[in-house]
This record gives sequence, C-alpha cells and structure tokens, in this order.
Amino acid sequence: MSKKYYITTPIYYVNDVPHIGHAYTTIAADTVARYKSMQGYDVYFLTGTDEHGQKIEQTANQNGEKPIELADRVVKRFQELWKTLHISNTDFIRTTENRHIKAVEHIFNKINSTGDIYLDEYEGWYDIRNEAFITETQLEEIQNMPEDKRPKIEKVKEESYFFRLSKYQQPLLDYYKNNPEFIKPDYRRNEVISFVEGGLKDLSISRTTFSWGIPVPGNERHVIYVWFDALTNYLTSVGFPENMEKFNKFWPADLHLVGKDILRFHSVYWPAFLMSAGLPLPKTIFAHGWWTIEGEKMSKSLGNVVDPNEVVSEFNNDIFRYFLLREIPFGQDGDYSRAALINRINGDLANGLGNLVSRSLGMIERYFENKIPPRGEITDKEKAIEIKYLETIKSVDKCMEELAFNKALSSIWEFIADVNKYVDETAPWTLAKEEKYERLGSILWTLAESIRVIALLCYKFLPETTQQIWGKIGLESDISDVRIQKIKNWGQTKANTTINKGDNLFNRIKE
Ligand code: MSP
Repeated sequence: MSKKYYITTPIYYVNDVPHIGHAYTTIAADTVARYKSMQGYDVYFLTGTDEHGQKIEQTANQNGEKPIELADRVVKRFQELWKTLHISNTDFIRTTENRHIKAVEHIFNKINSTGDIYLDEYEGWYDIRNEAFITETQLEEIQNMPEDKRPKIEKVKEESYFFRLSKYQQPLLDYYKNNPEFIKPDYRRNEVISFVEGGLKDLSISRTTFSWGIPVPGNERHVIYVWFDALTNYLTSVGFPENMEKFNKFWPADLHLVGKDILRFHSVYWPAFLMSAGLPLPKTIFAHGWWTIEGEKMSKSLGNVVDPNEVVSEFNNDIFRYFLLREIPFGQDGDYSRAALINRINGDLANGLGNLVSRSLGMIERYFENKIPPRGEITDKEKAIEIKYLETIKSVDKCMEELAFNKALSSIWEFIADVNKYVDETAPWTLAKEEKYERLGSILWTLAESIRVIALLCYKFLPETTQQIWGKIGLESDISDVRIQKIKNWGQTKANTTINKGDNLFNRIKE
C-alpha cells in the first residue's frame, strides 16, 4: 500500500471574492500535491470555504441578503477559479455542510467532557475583520499604531464559553521544543514560541450577540467561535467522526499551508484543541508571506486587488504559477508587478525553456524527418549532461521537502541553461553541414532525453506546459501518471519516436 500524504489550504472567507493571496496558497498546495503524487504517495488535498461568523453575517446584512445566500454566491467564485487553475484538490469543504456541523459538535462535546470548557463572561475587544479576540498586549500595539492603520475593533461584553487554553501553555512549549518540524519557517516558529512564553489566557469559544454559526450543543443561545468551527474542517473532510477508517488513514495532516497572518490560530489554538480532544497533531504548519502589489499593500480602497482570472486569461495558468513560486522564497513577503511577470516570461520561460524545446525539436524535424535518432556513442559532453541531471533531481527533491520552490526552480533552470549551452558548444548545425549524421544523432537524442526529464522535473510547477512538451516529444500518456522510478532513470527516450514540434511554448511579450 502506498504511503498517504494529507495537505490542506486555509478555508477562505466567503465575504470576499478570490484574489491573488488566495490563489497563492492554493497553487503552492497544488504544486506540493502534484509533487507527492508523482513520488507515489496517496495524496489527499483539501481546500474549501469558511462560511460562518460575524464578518460574514455583517457583509450579508450590508448586501441585504441572507448569510447563506452570500455564501452560496461567493463559494461558486472559488470553485470556478480552482477549476480554471486546474487545481487537483481531492475535496472542497464548506463549513455550512451537515457533515461539518456534526464534526464540530462532536469535537466540542469531546473537549467539554474533559472539563476543558466552562461558562463565564467575556469582556474585552474583538477584531471582526480577523475574527479575533484581542489580548492586552495586542490592544497596546493597536493603540500605538497610526490611526489610519488601526484595525477596527469593538468592545464586547457577553456570556461566553471558555476553553482552558492556559492549561496548554507548557504542553505546547514542550511540543514545539520536541518537534522542530511542527512550525515552519524557523523564524516564524520563534515568534510563536515567544508569544506562548508571554502567557496564554483562556480562550472565549462562543458568542451570543449574533447567530450565524454552529450552536453550542445544549445551549443554543451561543454560537461556536468561528475559528473553533473553521479549524475543525481539517478533521471533517477526512471522515471525523463518522468514517474513522478514512480518518485514521489520513489524519494527522502532513502539511497545513497558511498565510503568516493566521499562523497563531493554527499553531497555538489548533494544537491545544487537538491535545484536549486526545487527537494527534498535524506534522507541519508552514506559514508563507504576503504579496504587495506594485509596492503597495493590496486593498479594495486602493483598487489594486489582483484578480487571478484576469492574469490567467491574459497570460496562462502556468505562467501565473511559475511567477508566484519563482519570484520569492516561500515564507517571505514579495511584490507582484506586471514588469516582473513579463521579465520572467521573456527570460526564463521563452528564452530558457521555450527556446530549448523549439530549437531541439526543430533540428530533429529538419535533419531526421521528425524521428528521434538513436543514442549512439556518447562522449564526455553527454555524460556531463547526465550527471548534471542526476544532481539536479537530488537538489530539487531536497528543495521540495523544504518547500523552497524558488530554489527548486532555479536549480531546474540551471540545468536548462547547461543544456542550452551544450547545444551552442556542440553546434549541431555544423555537423549537419558536414554530414556527420551519427554524431549529430547522438546530440539530438541527448536533447530529446533532456527535454523529457525537464518536463518531469517541471510537471508540478507547469502541469499544462509539461503535458504539451510530452506530446511534442511523441509521448502519448498523461504526464501526471508518471511515477518516481521513471524520473530517476536517464536514458528512456526511444529512438525512432515521432516528434511534433508544433508552436512555441511561450511567446515573448513586447511592452
Ligand atoms: N477563513 C480564514 C482561514 C481559516 S483556516 C481554518 C481566513 N480566510 S481568508 O480568506 O481571509 O484568508 C485566507 C488566506 O489568504 C490566508 O492564508 C492569508 O494569509 C491569505 N492572504 C490574504 N491576502 C494575502 C496577500 N496579499 N498575500 C498572500 N496571502 C494573503 O483567514
């Protein structure tokens, strides 16, 4: 039986339509999911929408619609975008689904039965936009911010159920210490540790001043705090509590991908809830950075929100994926700009990968009537390409394990540059003029084989382009069906295969 790999994105709020920030996490998760599938894992990839809470209720009220009408309308935008981007998710969860309501009730009862929930009164501040209770230190930070940067917060005083978070301060610190892979990157892990060392107060986990949420079992005046509800989605999808066979197969999650703004919910509250419920903890929570747009914070009021639909309709899915994952180290903040995007298209994609494929296949077309020639005798030059390839897979695998997508890509592109250099140095066109067909054949076979392995290395990043390349080099299968064993072997290109050069993969953009 193959090993499982369970990966999740955050579930997105339905008060807003999808933008580049949402697409970023989902595309990164899709890349890892495709990588792990090719490695032979049984991958379970979850995404979905977060549909309860005060913010959704407020937005719906402002629009004059019911919260569920808002959710039903906006969820389609997410589902359509993931279809457009060819996201390979296994499941799409909505927190308003019955299966999820049952899971939340179940875990609430389970935690309650351990004595970790009690009724009291919450008096303090609440940030509706982030659906977060504000601690005293956070309140001070907010008060010190310039007025226009301050998040809107409101004073709340209401009866509330509390979760004994304070009890988990030491268990959490011990867990972080003993499991260095739990929070990534390391600089984020340190931030979480200092936050927890600063002291944890019990957490309010129910609200009474609005009604759009899952009622507290046994006390319907309360709705369960939206983060308690939302985090549970990761359990619901894999069968909790009704299909424990499926649940035990996939839980714990191998990777929760999240933005840095929601790391605290995932790395403090979530593991504490799970500890209390006696469930295993996810293996890794990785927090990525935020995109600014042409140097500015992305915001509706600035009118600079990037709609992924527009980018992919002007360019294409793979270009968008490539840019997001190549431009900045995963984990750090970065800037999205049209100029930077076009730079990547013209440089890496058209000049690098595109040019290698078109010039190589062009020569097989011209000199060998579209048939890949035999490998023939190889020289040190061909051996060097093979060795470089074997080094490249190793380095790509290592980078993928660290989610260093940009480094994985730059290492593949180094190999592409080496192969392009090999073409320049061996000058096959001169050999053609001199009618040295055997040597020419060996070189063109090496190029066809290099293109095959480059397609395999790039598949997770450029699924559509690599399928096209696959067809161009005469392979009829689905590239997504190829498994790791075939990637590791150099030399599988068969002589006499008919290629189809066709159009260029990427066109240069003139601006
Ligand atoms: N509903 C919660 C998540 C619950 S998970 C159990 C939520 N939703 S969200 O729709 O507001 O945000 C989802 C993700 O989008 C977050 O990971 C956030 O970091 C990410 N981004 C929002 N704007 C972003 C950028 N400008 N850049 C990169 N990612 C950004 O939070």
